[in-house]
Amino acid sequence: MPAERLPNRITTPQFLARKRKGQPIVMVTAYDAPQGRLADAAGVDAILVGDSVGMTTLGYDTTLPVTLEDLLYHTRAVLRGQSARRADACPDGVPTNAERARGARHALIIADMAFGTYGASVTNGVKAGMRLIAEGGAQAVKLEGAGPVVLETIRRLVDIGVPVMGHLGMTPQSIHRFGGFKVQGKTEDAAQTLTDGAVALEQAGAFGIVLEVIPSDLARRVTGSITIPTIGIGAGLECDGQVQVLHDLVGFTDGPAFKHARRYAELGAALLEAIAAYSLDVRERRFPGPENFF
Ligand code: KIV
Repeated sequence: MPAERLPNRITTPQFLARKRKGQPIVMVTAYDAPQGRLADAAGVDAILVGDSVGMTTLGYDTTLPVTLEDLLYHTRAVLRGQSARRADACPDGVPTNAERARGARHALIIADMAFGTYGASVTNGVKAGMRLIAEGGAQAVKLEGAGPVVLETIRRLVDIGVPVMGHLGMTPQSIHRFGGFKVQGKTEDAAQTLTDGAVALEQAGAFGIVLEVIPSDLARRVTGSITIPTIGIGAGLECDGQVQVLHDLVGFTDGPAFKHARRYAELGAALLEAIAAYSLDVRERRFPGPENFF
């Protein structure tokens, strides 16, 4: 296969190289085909099919009701979006096998492991992770925490070839234990536990760790304590990369904006305006117009 026909896909070893070279890693969530296609076209390094789909898309208050089946469904959708044909991928007009495949074109696809599918049993966690790879088409999975069952699950998944990303700090699946979305790692004890957890995740074979809503000096300490990249969300500038929930970036959420997110667009307001304008046009018989007739 000529070099230009190879899919230009980010890999987990490239994640590690980025940290060594000091090149920030860009990660964003996506949950369906158009979002996957746009994130890929924008050139992000990794797309997380996060269990935040529960809040952004499925109407839940937390990530807890999201199922493995939900994450399989949304991961497949993101991959379908990514396989949309790129003009530069097929210069002679003949689709390649890679182009025909329903696979990632550029960004690494990481699928979240749903609450309740890991953590209680290593076997169940390994099976859930394998399904996200085999049936969902993800190239890596992410799970929360650094308890003994989670660490063993990571070791076993890595052993059978599944790259795993860890997640520490304000891990949303522990929302009830934390008593809300609160900054974690504020005391020295909590900071040390989190740092030890990060080291344990690296030793278990994780290729990266999301650090969510922790003080920025703790994120710096963790980032300096491990050789795998840290990906921050509400964890300051000194992580090796950043991840954001797409809907927070583009203003497509209910309620107030999060402190840790910057809004680059106001899509919620734009959609509301568009639907209201359409409604008015229908009611006043201005739509359809002559250009919409057959
Ligand atoms: O589900 C998700 O979107 C996440 C990010 C907040 C990192 O886990």
